[in-house]
Amino acid sequence: MEYEIKDISLAEKGLNRIEWADQAMPVLRSIRQRFEIEKPLRGLRISACLHVTTETGNLARALKAGGAEIRLCASNPLSTQDEVAASLVRDFEISTFAIKGEDSQTYYSHIHSALKHRPQITMDDGADLVTTVLSEKKELIPEIIGGTEETTTGIVRLRSMAENKVLKFPVISVNDADTKHLFDNRYGTGQSTVDGIIRATNLLLAGTSFVVAGYGWCGRGVAMRAKGMGAHVIVTEVDPVRGLEAVMDGFQVMPLLDAARVGRIFVTLTGNKHVIRKEHFDAMPDGAVIANSGHFNVEIDIPLLEKMTRQKRRIREFMDEYLLGDGRRIYLLGEGRLINLAAAEGHPAAVMDMSFANQALSVEYLAKNKGRLENRVYVVPREIDHEIARLKLASLGVSIDCLTGDQESYLSSWLEGTQ
Ligand code: ADE
Repeated sequence: MEYEIKDISLAEKGLNRIEWADQAMPVLRSIRQRFEIEKPLRGLRISACLHVTTETGNLARALKAGGAEIRLCASNPLSTQDEVAASLVRDFEISTFAIKGEDSQTYYSHIHSALKHRPQITMDDGADLVTTVLSEKKELIPEIIGGTEETTTGIVRLRSMAENKVLKFPVISVNDADTKHLFDNRYGTGQSTVDGIIRATNLLLAGTSFVVAGYGWCGRGVAMRAKGMGAHVIVTEVDPVRGLEAVMDGFQVMPLLDAARVGRIFVTLTGNKHVIRKEHFDAMPDGAVIANSGHFNVEIDIPLLEKMTRQKRRIREFMDEYLLGDGRRIYLLGEGRLINLAAAEGHPAAVMDMSFANQALSVEYLAKNKGRLENRVYVVPREIDHEIARLKLASLGVSIDCLTGDQESYLSSWLEGTQ
């Protein structure tokens, strides 16, 4: 078995963590148990480019239980949990290529290693795997049945590929499932981003001016949790509807340049580049702390910050001090990479349970529908999305009501109006 990881002797710690996460992933576990019996993925070669975490470990277990052969690489140079990578290799015999802190060249060499077995299914978190196939490994395309994509940023890239007719196989957008983005993006990113900022800085949030750039599902989650910890939260947006939602959710909304003058902690979750740039660095007070929780490390213009800097030093494990020419200090967390995975452990298992149930069932759906789908981005079928919600509710011991027959026919008729 091929692999490239930091240290196999970390495996015991990784195994404990994978098993602990499994306890909070009842939906994925039930899929794994069914897969073990039915083997719906028998012989299927899967290349997965995902954050190598305890939760991903449990997804890989489920796919393997279904009969798939998996090669796994990291979807971000800083998100790998080295002990998990070690356990996946030692305890689950999954070819893993991921080392926390790997440089860009190693990151891409790991993507190539994951593709080595000529995948029939690709799994992405950010679309780097599909992009590599379409640009550098076109010879793999004929054997690919389809792919899955985990995150908003990846979907934006894939939709652009489909529009430009360069997408050469179907891809299922796991992100668009309700049981994914309403929970993972909101509650997962919300908690883990605040967790990452606190682990990186040990700052007190109560009473602190906390700027959230971007009010999509991730931004909403972070704003909500920071507010819950007593921060004074300011939201910045470019979309008028989202800006309005933030206002009515009770947040102060203003342009980032104005927020830059009064903020202490800044976090970007926009999916766009250079959200924090020169004019914002120029306006920030001494001691400003900036972090990113969007997928790529482009939301903060770090090359520009480097240029403005007289001296840089590492203050804490995930915090660098930039001493600017005018004497102000700016603190950048986690090198501008997603802070929830760089400094903390990513989303907790209880939400990844639903995200990765969507992944596992989407892979099964692709295998079942081989040759029947077009080369475009599909959403997760509604039945799968609802089944995951039903299973999750059941695992929480929560029951809900059913429509009566009379109500069902009322909802499907147009005859009954004002009484
Ligand atoms: N993305 C965000 N959190 C994650 C986690 N815990 N595992 C895998 N991918 C993630």
